[in-house]
Amino acid sequence: METIRTIAWMKEQSRAARLEHRIIGLVPTMGALHAGHMALVERCRKECAPVYASIFLNPTQFAPNEDLAKYPRTLEADTEKLAAAHVDGLFLPEAAEIYPRGFSTYVNVEGLSDRLEGKIRPGHFRGVATVVLKLLEIVQPHYAYFGRKDAQQVRVIQQMVRDLNLDTEIVVCPIVREADGLAMSSRNAYLDAKERKAAVVLYRALQAAAAEALRGEHGTMRIIEAVRGVLSTEPMAQVDYAEIVDAETFEPVTRIGRTSYALLAVRIGKTRLIDNLLIWAEDGALRPDL
Ligand code: PAJ
Repeated sequence: METIRTIAWMKEQSRAARLEHRIIGLVPTMGALHAGHMALVERCRKECAPVYASIFLNPTQFAPNEDLAKYPRTLEADTEKLAAAHVDGLFLPEAAEIYPRGFSTYVNVEGLSDRLEGKIRPGHFRGVATVVLKLLEIVQPHYAYFGRKDAQQVRVIQQMVRDLNLDTEIVVCPIVREADGLAMSSRNAYLDAKERKAAVVLYRALQAAAAEALRGEHGTMRIIEAVRGVLSTEPMAQVDYAEIVDAETFEPVTRIGRTSYALLAVRIGKTRLIDNLLIWAEDGALRPDL
């Protein structure tokens, strides 16, 4: 696996691959790789060659009070994992390569970026959309792989791709979980043993939502009540939001008529965790994806 540090060399590599009519895949990450990231890489490898992964801890998507400085950095282990997964190239730019002095152009996906995660983390999706647009422009992949773990992020990126007529297809992959149901996340490393145990309450709350949906409950007030009921059993859990939204608009719904997400953001101690449940709606029947 080649480590590619400059935009010029990355562009050169992917240009050469395109000239050979090869199918280019990209998996963008911020590192501290876990099985959730590697599932994206695996899927990409099945569908594309060459496979590029990027590791870039993107400063513009972190607010000054957030965890950029202490975000886990495990570059050596990450490189080994990607090489073992037969990734062809690791794009590993420095911050100054992506944001040189004087950088001043940002992408704002209006509306979608202002709700839920975007409301609690102002500017977050602006940073995400900007860096993802740059990565897509630099690598020009046919396919780019993202996790449903960050459901709103994926929706923001899909909207940007649509609005800006980008030639990349966004592939969305399911959430990879630990054995006890906790969604894998680089931020799980912040949890101490007690918090790690408490964190499973997010999954249990989503299980309660899934059970309600399977029973045929379409009313979101009832489902959210069940979710909050479970969350309230865990004294360490502080809920930022627990909402059910339309999967397209990310607007809250009172009844699940179309495919929707139950979305959770919960703080366990100082660690903020997000998780979600996709609820498919087909011919009036609800099919939770858990
Ligand atoms: P990061 O948090 O490193 O995640 C990289 C990709 O891995 C994202 O698409 C994310 O949704 C996916 N992912 C994380 N945990 C997952 C899990 N448990 N199951 C499945 N997929 C999972 O998300 C980002 O980085 C950044 O915002 C980025 C898109 C790279 C832009 O900076």
